Amino acid sequence: MNHPIIDVSGLSFSYNGTPVLSDVSFRIHEKEFVALIGPNGGGKTTLIKLLIGLLKPRQGHVQIMGKTPGQVAGQIGYVPQDLNINKSFPISVMDVVLMGRLPFSRWTGLSKKDTAAAISALESMNMLDLRDRKIDDLSGGQRERAFIARALATDPKILFLDEPTANIDSRGRSELFGILKELNKTKTIIVVSHDTMVLSSYVTAVACVNRSVHYHDNAEITEEMLEMGYHCPVDIIAHGLPHRILKTHGNE
Ligand SMILES: Nc1ncnc2c1ncn2[C@@H]1O[C@H](COP(=O)(O)OP(=O)(O)OP(=O)(O)O)[C@@H](O)[C@H]1O
Ligand SMILES: [Mg+2]
Repeated sequence: MNHPIIDVSGLSFSYNGTPVLSDVSFRIHEKEFVALIGPNGGGKTTLIKLLIGLLKPRQGHVQIMGKTPGQVAGQIGYVPQDLNINKSFPISVMDVVLMGRLPFSRWTGLSKKDTAAAISALESMNMLDLRDRKIDDLSGGQRERAFIARALATDPKILFLDEPTANIDSRGRSELFGILKELNKTKTIIVVSHDTMVLSSYVTAVACVNRSVHYHDNAEITEEMLEMGYHCPVDIIAHGLPHRILKTHGNE
């Protein structure tokens, strides 16, 4: 039971020779709810892409359930950042969610099982009544929930969400995190978000990403951590002790 679900060791990555992540190591255990926080350009999206196998490490390795990300692709759900930029998507909500089943159906056509899984994913996101709506005709928050439903259509063990609340108002944010908390009963959740105060009552661990990664896997934030200077203001805490406020890790 103590095996990590995600094991990152000595991971480094550069885009065209420009280092973005250097010597990153941490472990995530099953059913954790991890917030990835950090400044713009700090490497959060890059880290997620490395974790799910969309990018390959320059050095080090990522293991998910003891395998490479590619070997467990069917167990991973991913909701990318900036879904709202690419707006021209003239298909229905149901079709978008069914697309999430394609890794399983392998183009042999969709079965009743695929439809049932899509409906169940839509239900879990409170989106079933909008199943026939064109994805273009949704609000930003509804569109986000449709894409989360797509990521859930394979019933993944791990769900990665890259800034899912960027286009959502504060009520919608709490609602969305409430849904994620429910999903967290059966899934490991890893979410990039700047909504640190809203997140505070949900997360079990916090990873501060800024070239290096500082992983807080318990509520004890020590003086030492504060002095390490990760340039990453932390106003959330881990392990369900909400609203303990840490201003910075130091140096700011
Ligand atoms: N495809 C790419 N080619 C070259 N450089 C890139 C590419 N994608 C990202 N970068 C650079 O890598 C760095 C990290 O980017 P990344 O998108 O991982 O940051 P982030 O923490 O997700 O930022 P944000 O909070 O703005 O989403 C940035 O300096 C960015 O400009
Ligand atoms: Mg990003």
